[in-house]
Amino acid sequence: MDFLHKVAIITGGAQGIGRSVTLSLAREGAAVVIADRDGSAGQSLAEGICSWGGQAMAITADVSSESDAARIATETVTAFGGIDVLINNAGIQTPGTVESTPLDVWSDTIAVNLTGVYLVARFVLPEMRRRGGGTIVNVASLHGLLTEPGWSAYAASKGGVISLSRSMALDYAAEGIRVNCVCPGMIDTPLLRAAAMHERRANPEERLHEWAAQQPLGRLGTPEEIADLILFLAGSRSSFITGGVYTADGGRSAGC
Ligand code: NAI
Repeated sequence: MDFLHKVAIITGGAQGIGRSVTLSLAREGAAVVIADRDGSAGQSLAEGICSWGGQAMAITADVSSESDAARIATETVTAFGGIDVLINNAGIQTPGTVESTPLDVWSDTIAVNLTGVYLVARFVLPEMRRRGGGTIVNVASLHGLLTEPGWSAYAASKGGVISLSRSMALDYAAEGIRVNCVCPGMIDTPLLRAAAMHERRANPEERLHEWAAQQPLGRLGTPEEIADLILFLAGSRSSFITGGVYTADGGRSAGC
């Protein structure tokens, strides 16, 4: 129970990778706050956790809104007394080159994926300081390190998350606040399934199989496998690790 008596916020915690992180943290004893723009999915996940004796709360919030980001921190402190762990996981993706990406899509992608990390951290950091420390894990993507044609806004936003994570790690290390970054490869979530549908409307399963076969390990990752890495970085067993950027990609980034 590495997270007993800890309070953790998971943005985008209602679905996909965030849902697995929420469930794993709750099983490890944390009081979990699911901050997701999908309020009903967050609420039903929170109720499920409470039904087996865990502590959970859902906040309907858009991480790209300054007032929502402030509310995530204040409502968490009101409910659970403080904040120890922040998992900045909420993210969106739309494919496109610079020319085929309309300005509103570019702006939304940067606002949610990058500005959202900045905004939620900005309101959570003073609360971590009051507790005498904390841990933050930012979820970037392999696209932030190596990308493919046609992912300009998403790759730019995730590259920004990697750089921001390093910057935050240096800024807050002296206060006992550790900041690390996770770069997943292809993980079987609703987000990846939506991308498969976008590329192969007639047979998205076929596209998922092709992607799985392209990975050195021969399969897609699971949300639980990413949650395991995130919990390691958020917990006490990684106490000398800050400013790190970790891939979990089935070997994809090992080759060229
Ligand atoms: P998903 O689409 O399955 O789940 C994302 C969750 O975030 C949803 O519950 C959604 O409602 C919430 N969300 C989206 N925008 C939000 C906003 N503005 N405010 C609050 N909540 C918001 O996505 P998935 O696959 O679980 O991705 C989680 C993170 O992992 C994202 O940052 C994504 O970019 C990243 N990632 C995912 C990969 C994959 O293959 N699935 C690969 C690399 C990175």
